[in-house]
Order: sequence, then structure tokens, then C-alpha cells
Amino acid sequence: MYDINKVRADFPMLNNKKMQGKPLVFLDNASTTFKPQSVIDAMNKYYLEMNANSHRGDYDLCYNMDVEIQKSRETIARFINSETNEVVFTSGDTEALNLVAYGYALEFLKPGDQILISEIEHASNTLPWFRICELTGAKMCFVDIEDKKVTVEGVKKAFKENKNIKIVALAHTGNVLGYTINAKEIASIAHNNGAILVLDGAQSVPHIPVDFKDLDADFLTFSAHKMCGPTGIGCLVGKYELLQKMATFHTGGGMNVKFNKQGEVIPLDAPAKFEAGTLNLSAIMGFKAAVEYLNALGMDNIHKHDEELFKYAISKLEKSDKVIIYNKDSNNGIIAFNVKGVFAQDEATLLNSKGIAVRSGQHCAKMINDVVGDIATVRMSTYLYTSKEEIDIFVENLINGGDILDAYFLN
Ligand SMILES: Cc1ncc(COP(=O)(O)O)c(C=O)c1O
Repeated sequence: MYDINKVRADFPMLNNKKMQGKPLVFLDNASTTFKPQSVIDAMNKYYLEMNANSHRGDYDLCYNMDVEIQKSRETIARFINSETNEVVFTSGDTEALNLVAYGYALEFLKPGDQILISEIEHASNTLPWFRICELTGAKMCFVDIEDKKVTVEGVKKAFKENKNIKIVALAHTGNVLGYTINAKEIASIAHNNGAILVLDGAQSVPHIPVDFKDLDADFLTFSAHKMCGPTGIGCLVGKYELLQKMATFHTGGGMNVKFNKQGEVIPLDAPAKFEAGTLNLSAIMGFKAAVEYLNALGMDNIHKHDEELFKYAISKLEKSDKVIIYNKDSNNGIIAFNVKGVFAQDEATLLNSKGIAVRSGQHCAKMINDVVGDIATVRMSTYLYTSKEEIDIFVENLINGGDILDAYFLN
């Protein structure tokens, strides 16, 4: 049984925090999430009790850190059903995508090859590919969007119309409209056409059960901070044979077996060969605690909670003819909307004056305008600790929140 009050009590940021003198209603969880006390404690434990580098000493403290890193890697691997040595620690989702771009695409793409993405991708799943095209002579191509969604049919059509697609890189769940693609089917289409699938899991892994082996994606990326974990840590999960084939991106200490004056470098096996330099050790401990926290609640329950809040919010918002909703038929915790006649950023500023945190603009997906049909949207996004009462406060302020000019006079 999902006890929302018990869940909320785990999060210090939900303990009477105010914004603009009003109780904070945090609805920007697609951007980042709050941390439960257990995650904060796990990170503090590193600095209070365990402070040492990993892989670099012959004393107990150092060895203990090696054990902690391994435990964290195992916990994450079990969580998304991969092998432990398929989990590479990165600074986050963005670095993980760049690692595939520079380690895999730069190594293997040739002039005339193509990279397939969509117009609704986040900058982190777009700009690395643009740069790889500049460097290799490969080209970008785009999936046709149907009814604001990336569909299996759209991907099939893209393969029919474009030759030599070698990489398909798509958000598993979009960060503006919140639709989840049929990744398993798309992976199979990519493989049948000699391409690999890079799945940007930044918005899916925190919200729905994700099974790396079952989806058969080649790479999966995500950030801890969007799933109750610390900032500055995330993962690239990759099929082991691909990780072994990939070139290193960062090089330095901790990733090599040996090197010599002739410049010959023998890297360690994956995942270590991608983890040059001192790792973000407290964050790795916090990441493990975050995954344990999600496991204890259960990913099915977390998804159900997001879905219930989504339906509840939509049912209330639909009653107002002031609100335009762009993704009514989605099913998770992201609602993209506008208030008629009000610019998105003004609406977000007005909500801020009421203590409500939402995001406005293009949400780092700057090619999405034509798909949405507007230059900017407001995005509210829930997570496992969001309550129905917070949705009520949000809807009440959105619909009866007063004149937009209040936002300026109150600030
Ligand atoms: C779909 C998607 N991809 C990539 C990212 C980048 O994540 P990060 O900034 O944690 O690296 C985000 C963050 O909002 C996202 O929503």
C-alpha cells in the first residue's frame, strides 16, 4: 500500500519549505527531484566515515571504497536488469550520451552513414550527434512524428526512406510531452536494418520499470538526480561487447593497465576503461541508496502514482476553457500546457509567486515547436512524493490564480 504521507516524511525538502512565503509545491520533477534522508545519509557517510579514493591504495579505507562502488554498480544493474560490468558511471545522462557519441559513433561512422533521431529530443540527445556528423561526414535524419509521438511505423518509414542508418537515438520517454516509445519494437527494427538503438532513459528509468535485456537496446543512459539520487552521477549501460569495442573518451588514471613512452596505452576492460580520474564517490553511494529507495516503493507503484496524479490533474484542468493541454493522452507525470493568451514564462512566474515551481519554455528540446504548435509551453511534472493536495493547489492557482500582472507586482 502506497502511503503518501509516509513517503513525504522521508524528504527534508518537503518539511514546511516555503517559496515566496507560501508552502512550496514542487512540480518540476522532470528537471530534478528531491532526495530522501537515506540518500543524504549515504552521501554523508562517505565524508564522515569512509573518505578515501578508490582503486588507488593498499589500505582498508581504499579497499572499502572499491567494495562500495561494486555494490552500487550491482544494485543499479539489478534495477535495470543488465550485467554489472555493463554499467559505466558517468557524471549524468548528458555525459553518457556524449560517451556513446565520441566512443562509439566517432569510432565507427563513415561519410554517408546516418543517425536517426526525432524533433522532440532533448539537446543532450541531439547536439552530440550533430557534432559527430561534422566530424565524420555522417548525416542526420529525423523520424516523422505522428500525433506528437515517435511511433514504430514512423521508425519503419525512416528506414525505408533513408539508407545507411547506423544509429537510432531516441528518448524512451519524452521530457516535454511525456510519451513513452515502444523501445523493444524499435530496437528490433534497428537491428534488422543493421543499426543500434541508443535509448535516452533520463525520463523513463525514474518513472517506469525498465528492463535493459528485455528491451534489447544497445545503450541506455540516465541520471541519478531525476530519481531521488545526487547530482553529478549517472550511467551509461551498454551491451558488453559494444562497450569493449568502443574507444575511450576520457583517459587518465584508473582506466589503463599500462602505457609507455611510445604512447602505447593498454586500457582496462569495460566499465573501468571509461571511468578515468577520481570518481564521484559520495554520489555513487547516494545513487545506490536512491535505487534502494525506489526498489522499496516498487517501480510499478511509482508509475501508478504518477499516472493517477496525471489523470486527476487532467480531469480538473479539462474543466477550464482557459487551459490548453498538449498531451492529454499521455500516462505519466508530465503535463505540457498553456493558459490562453498568457506567455508560458509569465504563467510560470505567476505560479512562482504562489509558491508553485513549474518549468516554462522549450525544456531543452528546441526543435519541438512545430510538433507542439506553440513556441513555448509550461510543464508541470510530478514524482513519487507529489500529493493530490498539491495538484489541487496547482489547479486552483492556475485557473483562479488572479491576474497575470500579480506576478510582477508580487515579486
Ligand atoms: C530526455 C532527457 N534527456 C537528457 C537529459 C539530460 O539530463 P542531465 O542534465 O541530467 O544530463 C534530460 C534532462 O532533463 C532529459 O529530460
